[in-house]
Amino acid sequence: MSRRPLIAGNWKMHKTPQEAQDFIERFLSFSCDGFDCDVLVIPPFTSLDRAGKCLLESSVFLGAQDMHPAASGAYTGAISANMLKSCQCSFVLAGHSERRHVFGDTNVVVNEKLQAALSNDLRPILCVGETLEEREADRTESVLEEQLAGGLKDVSELDLAHVVIAYEPVWAIGTGKTATTEQAQDTIAFIRAWIETRYSETASEAMRILYGGSVNPANAKSLQAQPDIDGALIGGASLDPDSFAQIIAEAMSLQGDDDPC
Ligand code: PGA
Repeated sequence: MSRRPLIAGNWKMHKTPQEAQDFIERFLSFSCDGFDCDVLVIPPFTSLDRAGKCLLESSVFLGAQDMHPAASGAYTGAISANMLKSCQCSFVLAGHSERRHVFGDTNVVVNEKLQAALSNDLRPILCVGETLEEREADRTESVLEEQLAGGLKDVSELDLAHVVIAYEPVWAIGTGKTATTEQAQDTIAFIRAWIETRYSETASEAMRILYGGSVNPANAKSLQAQPDIDGALIGGASLDPDSFAQIIAEAMSLQGDDDPC
């Protein structure tokens, strides 16, 4: 089964509405429409509305970095699924490592957010990944199993079709240290096998699994060439429109189309 790649830029706490607009105008001028992949940008909350308006006529998707599971209420500082949808968001991250490690999101909380996203027709990107300490202690697989089982608790196979998984080793995020292509491929193949055991072969073959962690124009192609890697979740290198477009061109050049950007 061929899975459509997804290349996503997570801007984290960067870019005002005007900076988001400048990025999008420049990025759209490259006309990456010819690539057979989905492209997604994930600005901070305050830039979503402007970004959504700038992307209206394009095929680029808009996503959010987080959301609260409740529909509304006394949750100071939080944003609901409905608010994200009003800005044209169709994706939302769940359990990004910075949410887990800086803001204390547990697997239970990640699951609540993921379930709320699904019931509001948002496509969650479940982020999983081990710390360096866990990898060195040979605990990568058990940590991933816990994050997958926790994050996907009570998610039916029907709903799973709307979920994307991003494998992001914590030690590779923002550090310039990319996992080797073998490490990324092997770990993502492990995640795919887990989906097959827990759900079915069909679900596992259809599941889009991205790699994230210091992806850049130089390593995008070899990562994307791995059989189980279906795209990338990019932080730092997605902040510059030229570099983001270059990553897409590199990754998708595998399809024999050298540089339509
Ligand atoms: P990075 O971030 O590309 O800057 O390593 C990836 C991420 O956090 O999603």
